[in-house]
Amino acid sequence: MNFADSEIVNAIMMEQGCKPAKSPEEAEIVFINTCSIRDNAERKVWDRLKYFRSVKKNKEGDFTVGVLGCMAERVREKFLEREKLVDLVVGPDAYREIPKLLMEVEDGRKAVNVILSQEETYADLAPVRVTGNGVTAFVSIMRGCDNMCAFCVVPFTRGRERSRPMESILHEIRQLSQEGYKEVTVLGQNVNSYNDNGTSFAELMYQASQVDPEMRIRFSTSHPKDFPDELLHVIAEQPNVCNYIHIPAQSGNTEVLERMRRPYTREQYLTLIDRMREIIPGVSLSTDIITGFCGETDEQHKDTVSLMKEVRYDLAYMFAYSERERTFAHRKFEDDVPEKVKKARLTEIINQQMDIQADINREEIGKRHLVLVEGTSKRSDDQLAGRTDTNKMVIFDRQDYQKGQYVEVLIKDANSATLFAEPIRVSSIAQFHEEPVTA
Ligand code: 5AD
Ligand code: SF4
Repeated sequence: MNFADSEIVNAIMMEQGCKPAKSPEEAEIVFINTCSIRDNAERKVWDRLKYFRSVKKNKEGDFTVGVLGCMAERVREKFLEREKLVDLVVGPDAYREIPKLLMEVEDGRKAVNVILSQEETYADLAPVRVTGNGVTAFVSIMRGCDNMCAFCVVPFTRGRERSRPMESILHEIRQLSQEGYKEVTVLGQNVNSYNDNGTSFAELMYQASQVDPEMRIRFSTSHPKDFPDELLHVIAEQPNVCNYIHIPAQSGNTEVLERMRRPYTREQYLTLIDRMREIIPGVSLSTDIITGFCGETDEQHKDTVSLMKEVRYDLAYMFAYSERERTFAHRKFEDDVPEKVKKARLTEIINQQMDIQADINREEIGKRHLVLVEGTSKRSDDQLAGRTDTNKMVIFDRQDYQKGQYVEVLIKDANSATLFAEPIRVSSIAQFHEEPVTA
């Protein structure tokens, strides 16, 4: 989401005649787009600001530093007091004000705007993608969140939920298709509650899939409380809507879920997973899990371990609980699971997940996949990297293949994170679906 937000800020700055610089050392203005989700995300920002201080010291000429996004919203004026280097503090709904705020800074003032909005979706601004790979793009379809999960600071930093009009989303996807992009990930804190005057997320996904049959569409993130069958059918039936769902469980224990204010039980969650696998055979699933939430007992943690074992996720993002000010949990519960226990539980689920992923990925050996090439592999210039429809990273020898191509590959080897393949031929979504070749 921050990646997408930075592209909106790029658009605003470039309209002012600014150009992207290659490094902070070469820049006159530096913005740091921040995340508040866990304490360690915020610590990284303080460290980065320290680094900018050293850049400023060694520099002649102007150097304006701005803090944008969620942490700007949370820490506000305190940034100016605590970190004298910061000139500008701008919350996630105030990016349009940046040029005006920069003028205030020029006049020698410190500038802050952290006003949240009920309407702002930046729908009319065409994001400028300066750091992407030119193949895959994020498209923001809504902002804010009304879910108020007990552990989460997002509703406080990003404000009320609001949906961007469907026409403006489809226009952006059309534009991306014309520019040669091959994959779009539509983004929102909870895309399933997308609502543009009655248009549902399932309808939006269907319309998005019709823009360009050779453009892959992904989405993130979904909440288990409102996942309709209609959306599962769109995923199953439209060849370019990827067979991959990120469906955060957070915990495998119903009492913990209740304290987290996640309105579903373990059983309801598992029923939803069965339904997904029934309607979309072979669907790839991922989750978010928090260990050591307030009051979590050993037994309750074991329920998370067993849930993950039962579902066998293709991918999982796992975190130790980090208390955030203003949240329901901060106000009502005690952060009473010792740090050591949180970390031990985290290590346990990470280890189990790595084993499961290694097993699942090994099952791919001998199968064919359509890979969208995103660029050169990090490890070697002689290899390309891309992802399957099911969101698995695949590496193969470059030969004459190129970034942006769909390549049909045969999987030869795998570990917990990556599949290794032999390329067979350049293909397309239509060709791959029409002529499935058996290995
Ligand atoms: N502590 C740890 N993890 C958190 N998340 C959100 N808030 C917290 C927190 N306070 C995790 C959730 C969410 C993901 C984006 O971050 O798992 O799904
Ligand atoms: Fe946070 Fe819950 Fe909203 Fe996700 S759905 S952003 S976890 S409050």
